[in-house]
Amino acid sequence: MTAQRKKPEELRSHRWYGVKDMRSFGHRSRTAQMGFHRSDYAGKPVIAIINTWSDINPCHTHFKQRVEEVKRGIWQAGGFPVEMPAISLSEPFQKPTTMLYRNLLAMECEELLRSYPADGCVLMGGCDKTTPALVMGAISMNLPAIFMPAGPMLRGDYQGQYLGSGSDTWKYWAELRAGNITEQDWQDVEDGIARSPGHCMTMGTASTMTSAVEVLGLTLPGAASIPAPDSRHAQMATLTGKRIVDMVWEDLKPSDILTAASFDNAVTAVLGLGGSTNAIVHLIAMARRAGIALDLARFDELARKTPVIANIRPGGKYLMEDFFYAGGVRAFLTQLGDLVDFTQKTVNGRCLGDNVEGAKVWNDDVIRPRANPLLASGGLAVLTGNLAPAGAVIKPAAMEPHLRKHTGPAVVFKDYNDMAARIDDPALPVTKDSVIVLQSAGPQGAPGMPEWGQLPIPQKLLKEGVRDMVRISDARMSGTSYGACVLHVTPESHVGGPLALVRDGDHIELDVDARSIRVLVSDEELAHRRAAWEAPAPKFTRGYGVLYLKHIGQADTGCDFDFLETERAQAAQGGEP
Ligand code: FES
Ligand code: MG
Repeated sequence: MTAQRKKPEELRSHRWYGVKDMRSFGHRSRTAQMGFHRSDYAGKPVIAIINTWSDINPCHTHFKQRVEEVKRGIWQAGGFPVEMPAISLSEPFQKPTTMLYRNLLAMECEELLRSYPADGCVLMGGCDKTTPALVMGAISMNLPAIFMPAGPMLRGDYQGQYLGSGSDTWKYWAELRAGNITEQDWQDVEDGIARSPGHCMTMGTASTMTSAVEVLGLTLPGAASIPAPDSRHAQMATLTGKRIVDMVWEDLKPSDILTAASFDNAVTAVLGLGGSTNAIVHLIAMARRAGIALDLARFDELARKTPVIANIRPGGKYLMEDFFYAGGVRAFLTQLGDLVDFTQKTVNGRCLGDNVEGAKVWNDDVIRPRANPLLASGGLAVLTGNLAPAGAVIKPAAMEPHLRKHTGPAVVFKDYNDMAARIDDPALPVTKDSVIVLQSAGPQGAPGMPEWGQLPIPQKLLKEGVRDMVRISDARMSGTSYGACVLHVTPESHVGGPLALVRDGDHIELDVDARSIRVLVSDEELAHRRAAWEAPAPKFTRGYGVLYLKHIGQADTGCDFDFLETERAQAAQGGEP
């Protein structure tokens, strides 16, 4: 623990509450208006609780109650809690995609903290983009910050079997389209797949990112995997509230916690978990906010030596509830052993190694020993080649092995609507060996880089029993999906990336072991097609979308807005951010 403690006059909120001027009179009288006596807050750290609760976010339903438990902890530790709602990026509802708004929430988080008298903050998130967004904002503001993950929902229940978020939706949708289940079965899936508050309980983006944030050291130990309805989750909320008050006195900020090594730890954990490809975009963006140069190559490098040891869907068998009972992130880290740098600091002031001490694996089929992994290495792979000069990604853990090396003729869709209109056309010239290509699904093209990357298998092939094919796009893919889907092709087609130049019948070669994705067309022919290519019209002409299109980066640099990047702040200020 830091011996040096702040004095009350050194708190940032002192400028609002403590000084003797007319403005501070206004702040105090207006706080009195809300029913607080001066003794409730005078000389205490003001803790902003950035809460992404909303009536339309089922993953955060319980945050209405949890925030009271966070407040309880803050009061107990001598702080003054102030709840500040922020936009709730609700994965199941927002169109075209929550990804369009990740940076907006990051900005909102940063500006709430900047403009109000916050000394520190509790970040309440969990549903996919909320986690990276809140952390990105908090990194840029760099006040003491602690993350309170929403926790996974309970296992889904259907006809005596467990259901996993997303994964089983795709699976049973394919079975319905193939005529193997009834409408009533499908209705039973609908009723049972999401039966408690909490985020998706497969190793989708939510579980991947909250686990990564725990490994980064931004949550209390063990916080990420507690199921949302478990009473231990409520206890964790109170402990989180208690802890942030001391973090303010100790002045323990994200910049004291986040290092290149802690990001390597987070990447390694994502790989060992068989986590979502989306984590690549988010972790790169978060690292860059912290001034750390994490890139695609580093993911591939770490993937080559990290085994997938968490047996969780979509790559494995179990669900987050099982992972929690098996020991959660702490036990999981002990199994990764020397792949993790345990000297890295965390929000409780201790290092990762202290925090995992005594952690045990209670079910070694859920959290496997390194000697018995699901996959010896390569939870994610970064591909390059003439189709993706700045990179593309694939999740080999979640694809049929025979497609790891595959060449086939392209069936090209120029955008999502084109695909929706033609994919199930019985006359579509497509076989199981074809390579399905979707253009215009990237950060600018879609726009917002939606999770369209698990392109549907044509119905006629589903009926023949085909369940996986090579599919390529500049989109992302839901972390709960599976299949031989090449994603995040960069540069995207909308800005003239080579994906825009692919035509029906071109042969495309995927070689996961060689980390290569190529279109087998000569450079001359590609140059010829490029010369004839016309840039499509921008997707927005007014509103937030215009700001988005003007400033959004490509997937290989994390899709942040250029004006939010740390390098820019450093350059503008001639030094430290
Ligand atoms: Fe919220 Fe999946 S829908 S985490
Ligand atoms: Mg998702």
